[in-house]
Amino acid sequence: MLIIWRICNTAIAQSCEKNVLFNFDLNWINAVTMELLTLGLALFVIALVFIPTLRTGASPVPTSRRMQKALLALLPEHLTCDPQSVIYELGSGWGGLAFAVAKKYPETTVVGYEISLLPWLYARLRKSFQPQNNLHFTLSNFLNRDLSNGVLVLCYLLPKPMDQLRIKLEEELALGALVVSNTFAFRGWRPVDEKKADDMYASHVFLYEVGNTNRKAS
Ligand SMILES: C[S@@+](CC[C@H](N)C(=O)[O-])C[C@H]1O[C@@H](n2cnc3c(N)ncnc32)[C@H](O)[C@@H]1O
Repeated sequence: MLIIWRICNTAIAQSCEKNVLFNFDLNWINAVTMELLTLGLALFVIALVFIPTLRTGASPVPTSRRMQKALLALLPEHLTCDPQSVIYELGSGWGGLAFAVAKKYPETTVVGYEISLLPWLYARLRKSFQPQNNLHFTLSNFLNRDLSNGVLVLCYLLPKPMDQLRIKLEEELALGALVVSNTFAFRGWRPVDEKKADDMYASHVFLYEVGNTNRKAS
């Protein structure tokens, strides 16, 4: 934002220097208008990120590189699935994790659902510069989507929305489907495996297998 603000101000200053017809008041009005426009743009961008965060309780914090490494190491080398099977990234944010998973499993379709416009736009833009044929980003609330063909589901969400998601996954996913959660464990599910990331928080990543979650007494 600071960079945009500086560019706008420089542009105004240059146009004022060149245009002899500009008097002081006009320059001042132009400068104030431009500053208000820049401020409006900044507030709009902030709102684009924060309004969906208030709705979902999950900000678009991306999975770190170290966390990605731990998460990918937890996944099987190959996924045994039919061609209709899909890997879902639920709340795909800026797309970093979805790209990494799509590269690991180039034969399987990866769909990232994201509710927040700005991260979704960024991920779409990134895909146009960095084509990945098996990867698709959709602007949508994953709670309203049918996930029944999911062979692997990834998420990085807060515990409360995960409770709602857990019920949906239990209802829709086939036995044997894999579910990976970054940082937070699904309450009531026991992971089949877990890993600690080599980061300063020693964050965990949890792997679950539908039908083998050995529900703990809550
Ligand atoms: C912590 S970020 C994780 C981003 C990405 N998965 C990653 O690991 O880098 C969580 C994302 O989930 C999105 N999200 C939360 N609830 C959602 C919902 N019901 N439908 C779609 N996206 C959702 C948020 O907008 C946010 O971008």
